[in-house]
Amino acid sequence: MSAVLVTGGAGFIGSHIAEAYLAAGHEVVVIDNLSRGKRKNIPFGVEFIQADIRDPMVVELIRERRFEIINHHAAQVDVRVSVADPRLDASINLDGLLNLLEAARRYGVRRFIFVSSGGVVYGEPEVMPTPETAPKLPASPYGVTKLTGEQYLYYYHRVHGLDYAAVRYSNVYGPRQDPHGEAGVVAIFSTRLLDGAPVVVFGDGEQTRDYVSVRDVVAANMLLSDAELRPARLLDDRAFNVGTGVETSVNELAAALGRVSEKTPEIRREPARDGELLRSSLDASKLRRLGWVPAMELDRGLRETFQWIAEQ
Ligand SMILES: NC(=O)c1ccc[n+]([C@@H]2O[C@H](COP(=O)([O-])OP(=O)(O)OC[C@H]3O[C@@H](n4cnc5c(N)ncnc54)[C@H](O)[C@@H]3O)[C@@H](O)[C@H]2O)c1
Repeated sequence: MSAVLVTGGAGFIGSHIAEAYLAAGHEVVVIDNLSRGKRKNIPFGVEFIQADIRDPMVVELIRERRFEIINHHAAQVDVRVSVADPRLDASINLDGLLNLLEAARRYGVRRFIFVSSGGVVYGEPEVMPTPETAPKLPASPYGVTKLTGEQYLYYYHRVHGLDYAAVRYSNVYGPRQDPHGEAGVVAIFSTRLLDGAPVVVFGDGEQTRDYVSVRDVVAANMLLSDAELRPARLLDDRAFNVGTGVETSVNELAAALGRVSEKTPEIRREPARDGELLRSSLDASKLRRLGWVPAMELDRGLRETFQWIAEQ
């Protein structure tokens, strides 16, 4: 079977992606610098190379192994880090991407999957759920590098014929989500509930997000690894929202986690955070037309995540 390179495969989402390619019979190589990822996340049977995506040895690796697919999940993922250090964010998310892209176009990669973010490229969108064609108005350096990443892909596609798909995720949750980060509210709330600590809600808690299970995110990646896609004329032609289209408020999420954990969450209210998006939900009709359906209902997905965190 053909070989697949998964960058960031020691991280939350990338490790599930690596597992799925392996289950589909591919030979899977993971590169990750373990800046946030963990060795124990890497599925058994995957070849792991500890490396930074900016390292020239990655080009050598792509030359030697002739990957059929590169699935690029490694990134600087923290909005606040991007604000504090935009150059670091650009170095990983753009220079790192270009290191991979230059090798991909030279050494015959069949398809490149780039992970963008539907939570940041649209800024504060007017239309809900937001379609791919909505204005792209990122409000953080992280949003800028995700959008610029897509534009680079579009350029490599148009000028060098590189085939690609860009996936714009909503808020992904599931097992292996890091509960210590700033994002990942499902994992953070679960950990607080387990510790018997209050969950912190900023503002009135009516801000909404579109929570999509990592299981459904994996299915989207698998579909887009093989789907026949028309050549892109516009940037959005090869961009796919991955979300449920359902808005869940922070208050509703806390209540749902209370239900699945059979604990009553104690809520601590704190002032709203500057610049926090009020509403977010993605219209994934385009991906649905290719056959994708988000199959995991929120309560079932939350239960799975809560149980996983409880076992840790
Ligand atoms: N979690 C979400 O809700 C969400 C939403 C939208 C987009 N995304 C995107 O999905 C991807 C995966 O995110 P995640 O939530 O699994 O985060 P994560 O931090 O668990 O995974 C990112 C992985 O990349 C690795 N990495 C970081 N910098 C690297 C470098 N320079 N070289 C090699 N490896 C490096 C980290 O060690 C980590 O294992 C990212 O591209 C992120 O921007 C995530």
